[in-house]
Amino acid sequence: MPDKTIATDLAKRLNGIALVSSDITDEDLRGIGLEPLTAYIVDFYGKEKRPGILDRTTLAKIIDDMRNESLPFQPEAVRASGFSPTAKHFDADYRIRSIVPEKTTSAVDSFAAYFRNRLDRLRAMIQDGRNSRTFGMINNIASVERYVEGREICIAGIVNEKSATKNGHILATIEDETGLAKILFVGKSQKDNESALFTEASKIMTDEVIAVRGKISGSGKVPFIIANSLIYPDIPIRNRKQTDKDVAIAFLSDIHVGSKLFLDKQFNRFVEWMNGNVDYRKDLVEKIKYITIAGDLVDGIGVYPNQDRELSIDDIYKQYTVLLDLLSEIPEYVHIFVMPGNHDGVQRAEPQPSLPASLIGERELRNVHLLSNPGYVTIEGLKVLAYHGTSLDSVIQAVPGCSYSKPETAMIEVLRRRHLSPIYGDNPIVPSRKDNMVIDDVPDILHMGHLHKNGIADYHGTLIVNSGTWQARTAYQVKNGHIPTPAILPVYETKTMGISHIDFNSMMV
Ligand SMILES: [Fe+2]
Repeated sequence: MPDKTIATDLAKRLNGIALVSSDITDEDLRGIGLEPLTAYIVDFYGKEKRPGILDRTTLAKIIDDMRNESLPFQPEAVRASGFSPTAKHFDADYRIRSIVPEKTTSAVDSFAAYFRNRLDRLRAMIQDGRNSRTFGMINNIASVERYVEGREICIAGIVNEKSATKNGHILATIEDETGLAKILFVGKSQKDNESALFTEASKIMTDEVIAVRGKISGSGKVPFIIANSLIYPDIPIRNRKQTDKDVAIAFLSDIHVGSKLFLDKQFNRFVEWMNGNVDYRKDLVEKIKYITIAGDLVDGIGVYPNQDRELSIDDIYKQYTVLLDLLSEIPEYVHIFVMPGNHDGVQRAEPQPSLPASLIGERELRNVHLLSNPGYVTIEGLKVLAYHGTSLDSVIQAVPGCSYSKPETAMIEVLRRRHLSPIYGDNPIVPSRKDNMVIDDVPDILHMGHLHKNGIADYHGTLIVNSGTWQARTAYQVKNGHIPTPAILPVYETKTMGISHIDFNSMMV
């Protein structure tokens, strides 16, 4: 009897989308990454309404296609003659601010100090907002006992718990350096559960800093407040900032060089386009002076179990060599800011340091600049906050209304919290006495990736961009129902404030 362990595993992964024919044995599948293969098979049968039969001949064809698409390629961009981009003819204007956490000695001390720092800074931002709802905000929770029952007060704290009561209300516990308080957000009746305050309260995340205005109820040891208002640190409402110069910024993320699913052909088209070799939107490409890349530059090694089966390049140094080969084909007058993501070869805990010389070797690309994750870069006077977006997974899980299909929804929620990673512990954070994920500077542009899905929005005058990916749909995404938008490049014209999405899937070279 031929061995069928791998074939059975494949059949399970396909989950009825295609039936694995009995002529397929483990010999046909040995050494093939089942994750990407599943994605390719699902793509192949995806358009049919009923399950297909995967026989040996079809399997061989799909594996062939997969291998052809996965070969690392060497770009050979030739600059088009007569291509004279306007962006070439003026000096670049940028300033980088990387975030470097200080080292701590005691993990316990730093944990307490970290939360104290988070509370102090975000509470100050709430007070600085000069919001009428925070007028007369009292100093700390312990002072609540000085006020009588029924008195309206405003108080801030870190959320340490949130639950639904059996009567359909939301009960949150907030904490500061002096004590705890319980806050009730009344659902009133079933019909009124949709009231604005209750809807807002349903979005409360643990570990975030909020202020509430409400009436003191009872006189128990732990103050109990019935809320009538919920206040976030938030960012002020401004007009979107424009530049005098007519330039453009292109945004990329999640390139995943080294993955079998890296879309090298589409990336090659992008490189050709940057060189003026594609007769499409030349008016736009001529203005691109800056590119920011928000992490997952390469696919990495050992990021998840058995990842080696999904790699076309299984050496991290070679992955970065190919990445730099690609970036070196982009004209030198374009300044490229790169930061790591959770797949890159630096520590997972955030803030992540910029890529070290040990990974990128002695290669000196004068126009490639290294940023921490998160990191700020001010371009032509516009403050760009770039962050890979690892925390967006936990925000989407926690906040009703946020979804993988609309990355901008979760990005707006983190801006309102003035914190890039509100829920502590779901993604690793560097132990530090200072909370480095607080958004202390209000950005003009907030750029993220990680979700492999394009998204765009304006929130209070800040442009929000999620730049999608350059990796095809992975089996993990198939399993979780996520539909990525690969090889679609957002480009922002900073003078006219126009945003374009360039689709390299259909563009012919
Ligand atoms: Fe990614």
